[in-house]
Amino acid sequence: MELTYASYLELESLLGLQNPRSDPPEHDEMLFIVIHQTYELWFKLVLHELDRLKTELSAGDLFGSIATLKRVRTVVKTLVSQVDILETMTPMSFSSFRDRLDKASGFQSVQFREVEFALGYKRPETLKYYNPSMPGYDRLVARLHERSVLDHFLDFLETQGVAIPAEARAREATAPAESSEAIEEAIFRLYKTRPDVAILLELMTDFDEGMQEWRYRHVKLVERTIGNKKGTGGSLGVEFLKNTLFRPFFADLWAIRHRL
Ligand code: HEM
Repeated sequence: MELTYASYLELESLLGLQNPRSDPPEHDEMLFIVIHQTYELWFKLVLHELDRLKTELSAGDLFGSIATLKRVRTVVKTLVSQVDILETMTPMSFSSFRDRLDKASGFQSVQFREVEFALGYKRPETLKYYNPSMPGYDRLVARLHERSVLDHFLDFLETQGVAIPAEARAREATAPAESSEAIEEAIFRLYKTRPDVAILLELMTDFDEGMQEWRYRHVKLVERTIGNKKGTGGSLGVEFLKNTLFRPFFADLWAIRHRL
């Protein structure tokens, strides 16, 4: 059969995947499903791009890394602005179908956790919240054991003549990234002497800031929609989410900004 727009994009399957659970149907449940599915598609692209970024960083490919980071940074900005759409849903409207979600929650998003792991925020203990029979569990475990973007960033720094301290290399792949004064010093020097590399460092900072913006917008979305109710995932809700704010992925990049 001739390839068409619909067959290439598998639109019949894609458009058959929005199945509200409320009966009679609550109008806004469609928005709730579409927006979450859209986020998951963007998470998929972010992971795809971060995989490419890792290869580019290790190869010392500065322009490739810049181009890829520009793309993921732009996707993240879109993730942030999309919160506006969901904020058109009132608390009353959400209450009308919230109980249909049972215990389902964004907390169980495997891809979101994969993004965190890929960026070096490794927390093996989060695995206990996922059932090993859940789709994507194996992928998440694999991400936990994979080298993160930050590990590949060290490779990049090495290609630029930076001596990487042995302890930064010796870290277990499953351990969270740690700050390093030696790396901060190297980043500071690159900022001062390499305007081309500074573009990459600024894009990494943009991306990191974007991820923090997303967390903030999500907390405020949750607060305006459910107030101080508990989450469907069983957490304290807003109180729990507030503790995730202002935590950068690339801490060494933020640590030196006052010196620039
Ligand atoms: C009315 C809209 C929303 C409400 C009320 C809401 C509520 C919550 C709550 C209360 C939590 C904490 C875990 C829990 O106990 O459930 C949470 C976590 C989470 N939500 Fe949402 N959420 C909403 C929309 C979204 C959207 C659109 C996304 C996009 C994917 C999303 C992704 C996440 C993620 C990834 C987490 C885990 C965050 C972390 O562990 O740092 N949420 N959400």
